[in-house]
Amino acid sequence: MTEVPYWVAGKPSTSATTLDVRHPGDDRLVATTSLATAPAVEAAVSSAALAREETAALPAHVRAAALTHVSTQLTARGEELAHLITGENGKPIRWARTEVARAASTFRWAAEESRRWAGDLHRLDTDAAGAGRLALTRRVPRGPVLGITPFNFPLNLVAHKVAPAIAVGAPIVLKPAPATPLSALALGEILAETDLPAGSWSILPTSNEVAAELVRDPRLPVVSFTGSAEVGWGIRDAVPRKHIVLELGGNAAAVICADYTADADLASAAARIATFGMGQAGQSCIAVQRVLVPRSHYGVFVDLLVAEVERLGVGDPFDAATEVGPLIDVAAARRVEQWVGEAVAAGAVVRTGARRVGDTVAPTVLTDVPHTAKVYREEVFGPVVTVDPVDSFDEAMTAVNDSRFGLQAGVFTRDLRLAFLAHARLEVGAVIVGDVPSFRADQLPYGGVKDSGIGREGVRSAMHDLTDDRVLVLTGVDL
Ligand code: SIN
Repeated sequence: MTEVPYWVAGKPSTSATTLDVRHPGDDRLVATTSLATAPAVEAAVSSAALAREETAALPAHVRAAALTHVSTQLTARGEELAHLITGENGKPIRWARTEVARAASTFRWAAEESRRWAGDLHRLDTDAAGAGRLALTRRVPRGPVLGITPFNFPLNLVAHKVAPAIAVGAPIVLKPAPATPLSALALGEILAETDLPAGSWSILPTSNEVAAELVRDPRLPVVSFTGSAEVGWGIRDAVPRKHIVLELGGNAAAVICADYTADADLASAAARIATFGMGQAGQSCIAVQRVLVPRSHYGVFVDLLVAEVERLGVGDPFDAATEVGPLIDVAAARRVEQWVGEAVAAGAVVRTGARRVGDTVAPTVLTDVPHTAKVYREEVFGPVVTVDPVDSFDEAMTAVNDSRFGLQAGVFTRDLRLAFLAHARLEVGAVIVGDVPSFRADQLPYGGVKDSGIGREGVRSAMHDLTDDRVLVLTGVDL
């Protein structure tokens, strides 16, 4: 098996410190890459700093052409990349295919937005003092970006760092998750086929110690991090003067409203919640974790949900019928098992699941969960859903907000008034009406409030976040 290179200033490289990437399902070797050496890291950062002006000055059509090439190649190599994602991450192949399609869409959107990325014209004759003047604003890159990505979407969350940076003309140094670097390195192969300046991008698997040095490096004034709340806020505290974007965790809630209690409505909500609470073993920041149901329909709903959860295919992630595969490693599965055990010891009732074999946790539905339990309060990042009865819409809103996180929420209703009320009251980055909180379209602003992070991704929002307004005032000009 040949060693997969990492990418330093657009060029492939390897080191003697090899990194074996293993399949979570059976620990078999998927591929070997290596950790970037200290000189390679230095070359990547200094090249990014040197490429700053050249990258910012690239014509929009050059940026758009590169982004379009990546999008097209991701689609053309879709099956290969989906198998790579499943190999390194253990995500069922059906979810991996969706992820590749989404990554192609992320790059396509970036290509389109890069052509539209202009500035604003401001009239200044709105006040006497401004008469005879005119202003333009355009957004200029804040500078080279350090992107740090997690294991759970090893291609599309990398796309969400790289594509907006290319679209605005900001160099980027990307550090993929050590467990899942292969999809990002394959993206490097595609980027190497474009005409982007070599120094404008690097993809470097590194140790966490090297990543901490990169965070502190003044030549990378923007840090865009997706991962755990603890690490994310640690970055913010370490470099308070840098521009920081944090996409962190959640314990997303789905609310069933009283108008959604017909048998067919409850059944369809239960099916969506089963799929998006347990799919890819719950390892998404917007997986359904907490469900709130009108007390009058609580018993019926729990039975429907358990039936839907027990219908899910669990097992080999390469099998097209599988919806729930292994977690990323045994340690993650043991942690989930422990949190479920703690909840049960405190009075929670297991309706299904709560069994672990190796790194696979059976999809688990819990009721009567004390609200102090970690499976309710923290981000479980595993296939575990809790269900609670509520006596009113107000009580449901309060319960959703009773969390240190605020990423997305789902509200099953057809009542437009309730939809708007939920949108006004829920302390989250997005409210999904008529569906689970797990819906995401890659062009939409994506991010959270409270401990879920700061800043927004989603192609155009990220482009905004990576840039600053620069104003031009023209004097002696009449509109
Ligand atoms: C995340 O886990 O934050 C990303 C979810 C998604 O992109 O669907």
